[in-house]
Amino acid sequence: MIGSGMNGISRRELLKRASAAAVIGGMAKLGYAQPASGTSTAAAAGKSFPEKFLWGCATAGYQVEGNNTNSELWMMEHLPGTIFKEPSGDACDHYHLYPQDISLLADLGFNTYRFSLEWSRIEPEEGFFSNAELDHYRRMLAVCHEHHLTPMLTYSHFSLPRWFALKGGWENEKAADLFARYCEKATRHLGDLVGYASTLNEPDIPQLLGWFNLPGAPAGMSIADMMHGALTKVRTQVNAPEFSDLFLGDGKKTRDGLLASHAKGKDAMKSVRPEMPVGFNLAMTDDQAAPEDSHLEEKRTDVYAPWLEAAKKCDYLGVQTYSRSIVSAKDLPAPKGAELTQNGMEFYPECVEHVVRYAAKQTGVPIIVTENGIATEDDTRRVEYVQRALTGLKSAIDDGVDVRGYIAWSLMDNFEWMSGYTPKFGMVAVDLKTQKRTIKPSAAILGNIARRNTL
Ligand code: BGC
Repeated sequence: MIGSGMNGISRRELLKRASAAAVIGGMAKLGYAQPASGTSTAAAAGKSFPEKFLWGCATAGYQVEGNNTNSELWMMEHLPGTIFKEPSGDACDHYHLYPQDISLLADLGFNTYRFSLEWSRIEPEEGFFSNAELDHYRRMLAVCHEHHLTPMLTYSHFSLPRWFALKGGWENEKAADLFARYCEKATRHLGDLVGYASTLNEPDIPQLLGWFNLPGAPAGMSIADMMHGALTKVRTQVNAPEFSDLFLGDGKKTRDGLLASHAKGKDAMKSVRPEMPVGFNLAMTDDQAAPEDSHLEEKRTDVYAPWLEAAKKCDYLGVQTYSRSIVSAKDLPAPKGAELTQNGMEFYPECVEHVVRYAAKQTGVPIIVTENGIATEDDTRRVEYVQRALTGLKSAIDDGVDVRGYIAWSLMDNFEWMSGYTPKFGMVAVDLKTQKRTIKPSAAILGNIARRNTL
């Protein structure tokens, strides 16, 4: 799938050449100093990351697997007047192509793969658990180990079983028990192969969206207004007055349900496999006080505080950051003239350093950057973004911040939720018709940094 021009050359060799070419080409364009030979500076003073640093790329089941027909999102994508730009369909067919995708990740130089289980495949009907689907994920974990990759497994990355959402999603008073039962079954089947487990991906999204400045939103419309309209419509369309999911519903009730679900889910995982490191992944913007009328502390209390508290009882905290926000009564639009990425966010790689410093200080637990990246068609911008993000991260580490890894979003271009396939977050391009993968220079460059564990 990597390409047709491989006659007579092994893929590993091809990648080595691609890496070298991309590094030299990319760096020359960007003006970064490069050593004469790739490995000579591996031990260059001050440039190395800590030993056993986790270097990886992330995906989420729903965004790459394809055909998650039992999920609430699939149902919503196919409703008349849906808020989704296009349906997810086959996505990247990672459900079938995972062996080569994982092997590609390893060949690029990474040592970690973060991916997620699709709860809707494992428990397609309430109380019915599929051993065949659990075996599928067991094979994925096994392939990671074959390639010496540490698997980082997220149990719930946004999408939900349709039956769970129809019954109120995280607002359902039984949500925590239902989630914990699923966590227990999955851990029993898979836990011995998991490197790091996460209960939930970005459970603070409902609150974060309330502060967010949505570029291109109709004048006077907040995200909350738009989400409320969408929720009412979906409930009517599917004739389920209780319907709710992470994005659509009552933010406060959803948060209570998520906090309880995280706690019970974590206990369930630990009851089966006490030594498995468990945490979760928090969405964090680099929040900065507006010069006037700053509501920075209010935002931090509203969005992060309960989760940072929960993180104190975890083995690690995954932080996921993409840009900064200048916080007034809401997040302000990006400063005039700022470079924007494909999804309207400010190009601001320094967010990584600022966020890890803040998260580590607040929680005292080890931090792993479990998502960071940009949406762009211009891969040279991604290369610069990653380089600057890592420079900042390294400076935090040098100051003693306990950071254990950097996982880029994303391994490949994929289904960006309501925005469909337009935003390109991938380090590897995917032709959605042929499923052909094409390595972008950023993948080779970050992979080489990973291989050398050195900037
Ligand atoms: C999510 C990903 C998403 C990415 C880029 C994160 O909020 O975890 O699923 O694709 O951001 O928007």
